[in-house]
Amino acid sequence: MSREASLQAGPEESPEGGRYASLVRGLFRDEYASRSLYRLIRRGSVKRIVREVAAGKESRVYLGVSPDGKPLAVKVYFIESTSFRGHLKYVKGDHRFRSFKEKAWSIATLWCWKEFRNLHRAYRAGVKVPAPIDYEGNVLVMEFVGDCFKPAPTIKEYPPNDMNKALSLILKYMSLLWKKARLVHGDLSEYNILNHSNELYIIDWSAAVETTHPKAETLLLNDLKNIVKFFSRFIETPDHTYLYKVVVKNEIKKVDGRWGILI
Ligand SMILES: Nc1ncnc2c1ncn2[C@@H]1O[C@H](COP(=O)(O)OP(=O)(O)OP(=O)(O)O)[C@@H](O)[C@H]1O
Ligand SMILES: [Mg+2]
Repeated sequence: MSREASLQAGPEESPEGGRYASLVRGLFRDEYASRSLYRLIRRGSVKRIVREVAAGKESRVYLGVSPDGKPLAVKVYFIESTSFRGHLKYVKGDHRFRSFKEKAWSIATLWCWKEFRNLHRAYRAGVKVPAPIDYEGNVLVMEFVGDCFKPAPTIKEYPPNDMNKALSLILKYMSLLWKKARLVHGDLSEYNILNHSNELYIIDWSAAVETTHPKAETLLLNDLKNIVKFFSRFIETPDHTYLYKVVVKNEIKKVDGRWGILI
């Protein structure tokens, strides 16, 4: 059986009460995530989980399959992650999360919801991100970015062929984010940009904040610093404080095949 065909195989019936155990138990390490997955299966956002494909500091990412056979990225936030606590200072300054109460169990859920909403806003503004599909509890479902059911490499692992073009595109996305989505990614670096056949996808949106957040400018400067540091290993790059003004206020253009910015 081909890999694609084997992904499409699986339980045909819609899951009900007694089927919970056979469908999801043991798939994820935490029971809360398994229950959330069960709800996602019941409402038809996911058909099944194939295997784990990546693990980060805050989450584990699985390859899943949609009811129509498409590969999905299913991100499960760890219930206990010390780095979540570090992020709480950003939640506290964001008016969207005014009613949030700091409880251990709810932090992962909040992070999941926050990433889903941020993904949506970025997607609608025209930034290339995995298309958001659904979320429940601490489980987020989105478009799978990769080939042959393997996640696309990050730009750190696989730098784009044309680094000038890639930098120009990332700055365009940062500008769209600021001006249209009114967001700052907040954790942008070569580790959170996937290179899928020279198409760049920005991932990992749980730390993004609104442009009205008191730390928005600091976070944007920091994102630019990370990007400039990475690209300056390959090409000549302007200073990140200069690019800050460009992203927030002005148009970006490429001049004479080199990096140039028209103000
Ligand atoms: N939509 C996606 N499609 C394919 N693979 C993905 C997708 N989202 C995440 N991944 C894979 O999972 C990895 C970790 O994802 P992400 O950065 O969102 O999680 P994280 O827990 O914040 O990780 P880290 O702590 O390493 O930043 C990515 O580097 C990538 O390999
Ligand atoms: Mg990441």
